[in-house]
Amino acid sequence: MTATLHSPITELYVSAESAQKLKIEAGEMPSWDLTARQICDLELLMNGGFNPLKGFLSEADYNGVVENMRLADGSLWPMPITLDVSEKFAEGIAPGQDIALRDPEGVILAILNVTDKYTPNKAREAEKVFGADDVAHPAVNYLHNTAGPVYLGGPITGLQAPIHYDFRARRDTPNELRAYFRKMGWRKIVAFQTRNPLHRAHQELTFRAAKESQANLLIHPVVGMTKPGDVDHFTRVRCYEAVLDKYPAATTHMSLLPLAMRMAGPREAVWHGLIRKNHGLTHFIVGRDHAGPGSNSAGEDFYGPYDAQDMFREYQDEMGIEMVPFKHMVYVQDRAQYEPADEIADKNDVTILNISGTELRRRLSEGLEIPEWFSFPEVVAELRKTKPPRAKQGFTVFFTGFSGSGKSTIANALMVKLMEMGGRPTTLLDGDLVRKNLSSELGFSKEHRDLNIRRIGYVASEITKNGGIAICAPIAPYATTRRAVREEIEQFGAYVEVHVATSIEECERRDRKGLYKLAREGKIKEFTGISDPYDVPENPELRLDTEGTDVDFCAQQVLLKLESMGLIGSES
Ligand code: PPS
Repeated sequence: MTATLHSPITELYVSAESAQKLKIEAGEMPSWDLTARQICDLELLMNGGFNPLKGFLSEADYNGVVENMRLADGSLWPMPITLDVSEKFAEGIAPGQDIALRDPEGVILAILNVTDKYTPNKAREAEKVFGADDVAHPAVNYLHNTAGPVYLGGPITGLQAPIHYDFRARRDTPNELRAYFRKMGWRKIVAFQTRNPLHRAHQELTFRAAKESQANLLIHPVVGMTKPGDVDHFTRVRCYEAVLDKYPAATTHMSLLPLAMRMAGPREAVWHGLIRKNHGLTHFIVGRDHAGPGSNSAGEDFYGPYDAQDMFREYQDEMGIEMVPFKHMVYVQDRAQYEPADEIADKNDVTILNISGTELRRRLSEGLEIPEWFSFPEVVAELRKTKPPRAKQGFTVFFTGFSGSGKSTIANALMVKLMEMGGRPTTLLDGDLVRKNLSSELGFSKEHRDLNIRRIGYVASEITKNGGIAICAPIAPYATTRRAVREEIEQFGAYVEVHVATSIEECERRDRKGLYKLAREGKIKEFTGISDPYDVPENPELRLDTEGTDVDFCAQQVLLKLESMGLIGSES
């Protein structure tokens, strides 16, 4: 049993010699540039992490996985691993064809022998796999707004692994981990999956889980893609390295997993279990709300807190990996130690302390104290380095509204006021200005407007990332594009949407540039509000009613909003 457990698992790579030859042949094939998520999936397909999959799902496998978590041959597999492509690319591909799969630099990583080309029912996929067709779920949002409309399926021939320049020594394929366990003589190993920094409670619970199962411990954090808004993996790995010193070195190991999470709760837990089994693990810690995506658009949790544990328990024999249920650890001040919450007999007589994730983020963003009982000083120092208080972080103010609504004027006034305060570099990306340089070749079709806004969003996200203030003032008529920009920016800092709500009648009455007149006469086509749509923002951070108020007052309102969000303060 243990011999087969840690013996090598099948990979999809060909020999280095064949890879060399195939790369030359693949140069002639149609080629697909893999997205960040597809690269993560491909890596785990090729190295056996997604065993028994042999490639991206065929239509029959996909239907089986979506409907009942099983491949067409009956094997358990809970997550659709699909190669989504654009309509345009799919048009040129027929089943039977080989295509080259490339990384963003153009390096050919694999060849896909296309056996299936199909159009998924995304609403059905969302309902069945993620539990609801609700874009508040990050994977459902990805499915509808990022993933291409057509899926290609078929077996993969692996030519080379994606290249990682970071933390190389900490990355292991399933076979490398299996070899490590063999070498160390480890037979029972419990894995801890995480996408968050480890604090003292996690250290206690993982240590106890391993001790109670009499197993070795593998800290197995995800460094592929996690939930939007999570602490970046560079920071996290530095935090993990600091915590690793707190475990007995001979019993604990850490390895990084290049997985793209989907936050699918119960199905994700089973998927994580299968992946860990492939990496040679025998036990897996499943906590409360494992891989939970947060609340749905009605403000309720997508899954019950123990749904993931229940589903894992149902399949664990078939999977061949045992669940170690997470113990909720709390700090008992009177005894100065962590204890499992359900094992404290005298809980009414002692003081129990806890800091929630939200409270931790608040303390970090406001530069407040984080006590030593909660986290290790090394971890807190790392987090503070990458997450300075909000008043020192970059952010974006995104004005949207009709032409002539006053966006540019208010944006200019705001910029001047922020520059007067000093502290952070400030850039104005005004609609008209951007169209003169960054987007000079674009018109006003939906496609061109989207491209224009995405470019503005990209520049603003870079400014935000680097600690500056970006003020954007385009019309930005489409809600989906604004949402995409918000998501891009919120990875790095705050996004403050300001709807300049001047009515179309008022804008037309003012007609500062004489454009409305031309639009009415049909001399300008696709004019927003006249002959082209404008999606009114539903939940902007601020809505400005400009009618009857002056520019200075509007700019003041934005400043007050920024202040209430903690983005400007005495330190900025
Ligand atoms: S968009 O939709 O966000 O890409 O538009 P934006 O880049 O902000 O550009 C809007 C400015 O271009 C002028 N203009 C038009 N606006 C809307 N529709 C049509 N067809 C059009 N043609 C030219 C207009 O002066 C806008 O300037 P602002 O500053 O908004 O008044």
